[in-house]
Amino acid sequence: MKTPLSDDLFRRFRDLLLARSGIYFPDHRQGDLYHNLSMILPATGYASFETLYAAASVDERVLHTVIEGVTVGETYFFRNASQFAALRDGILPDLIARRAAIRSLRFWSAACATGEEPYSLAILLRDVLPDPSSWQITILATDINTTFLERARAGVYGAWSFRETDPAVRDRHFERVEGERWRIRSDLRHQVLFTRLNLVDDAYPAVTNGTTMQDLILCRNVLIYFDDDTIRAVVRRLYRALTPGGWLIVGHAEARSDFFAGFEVVNFPGTVAYRKPLNAPLFDETDALPQAPAQRREGSTPRSGAVSAPADAPLLLPPAPAAPSSACPPEAAVSATIAGDDAPDTCTAARRAADHGDLETALRLCTTVIEQQPLHAEAHLLTGQILEQQGHLEEALAAYRRALYLDHTLHLASLAIAGILHRTGHSADARRVYRRLLRALAALPPHAPVPSLEDATAAELQAFIQRQMAALNALTPDADGC
Ligand SMILES: C[S@@+](CC[C@H](N)C(=O)[O-])C[C@H]1O[C@@H](n2cnc3c(N)ncnc32)[C@H](O)[C@@H]1O
Repeated sequence: MKTPLSDDLFRRFRDLLLARSGIYFPDHRQGDLYHNLSMILPATGYASFETLYAAASVDERVLHTVIEGVTVGETYFFRNASQFAALRDGILPDLIARRAAIRSLRFWSAACATGEEPYSLAILLRDVLPDPSSWQITILATDINTTFLERARAGVYGAWSFRETDPAVRDRHFERVEGERWRIRSDLRHQVLFTRLNLVDDAYPAVTNGTTMQDLILCRNVLIYFDDDTIRAVVRRLYRALTPGGWLIVGHAEARSDFFAGFEVVNFPGTVAYRKPLNAPLFDETDALPQAPAQRREGSTPRSGAVSAPADAPLLLPPAPAAPSSACPPEAAVSATIAGDDAPDTCTAARRAADHGDLETALRLCTTVIEQQPLHAEAHLLTGQILEQQGHLEEALAAYRRALYLDHTLHLASLAIAGILHRTGHSADARRVYRRLLRALAALPPHAPVPSLEDATAAELQAFIQRQMAALNALTPDADGC
């Protein structure tokens, strides 16, 4: 297409935009770039594309105006229903089970546009967390376009943003401003932190901008604007920003497996998600993705590399949990805990270290407690949680089983065992543990707090387990039919 933007100037704008924003205009989109630049030219005060280009190449603010002029902010609440279903039924339950101990989850909507995506996630979390107020949830939302971010912070949306949203969901989480304008409720608005971040910059992952140790990154419908080299570089950085076992979701059109080597590929109904292996190193400073081919299992959650059993073999569980001292009955655990000297303090310090992501220190402190008090059930539970986060699933299972042996009311340990069995494809075993847990919970009044999960009531936890079992049944139907 012939345009007033000369071929030479088109190439110069194209190269500048590619280098500074990753956005790539192939030759056949010369007309689109001309159109975008024509829209912004009058407001910039420059008389021609030539002078606009000259200014943009030396002045960050002008460049920013040009970048904003070419970004596409198309988005709406709960965009791509199958991805939100995967989040609700598979990914969030996985994360919730693994983080039940520390009750802390970190999410990042990278390229959030006007905020519909991170707010959708915040709304979904209200529905799937057993007791949302007891969790520390961080939702970071970033974009290159500051105008979009301003609108996201304001949180006011028209009917078009709700085109795929159930009106009942809208009415629950938004208040009407006027006519067909709705504002997100302030508790949800305050849960999301909006900040500018250019995905092309080598500025992440970094503790300073909150982009490290992410449990889930949504980076949807932005990679399509980038060229292949930029996509690879961005995906490498996102991989490093994830915690082991963390998930990455990209747009449907972006799911090209060669970009995601090193991730496990997990299929959900109608969509695909990528998962950083549980046994990946916690801190990975290298830029390269691991070379090992990603595991691929149709219709199931991934099996961690740390568990070596073949797909259909029973998990190589440790033998019946060996009590650290077979001479001591479980009741001794209680008195040992109470009679302890500084073990509770050390255990608290271990939990605090785990909360801060310092798993090595946390594990060392747990070992110290267990050396002093082998029957300290809480220390075994915490050990299991740390080992699980590190991807040592078999050792984690052994620790959880020891904790349960010492204190059968530690329902959190049962939940964690079921979660590992569930995620590693041992559906029948997982169902058995869930059912046992449901029986134990049935003995409690519905509003009673659950031992070891005090912020959840028996009824809430029962509902959570039932959702887990439904998700399990959706993947592998229950042979027992119950
Ligand atoms: C089509 S929207 C996607 C919004 C949302 N993720 C969704 O899927 O509904 C693409 C967003 O990517 C942003 N974007 C483009 N290049 C970017 C970059 N280099 N860094 C960060 N964000 C970028 C744009 O500003 C725009 O808001």
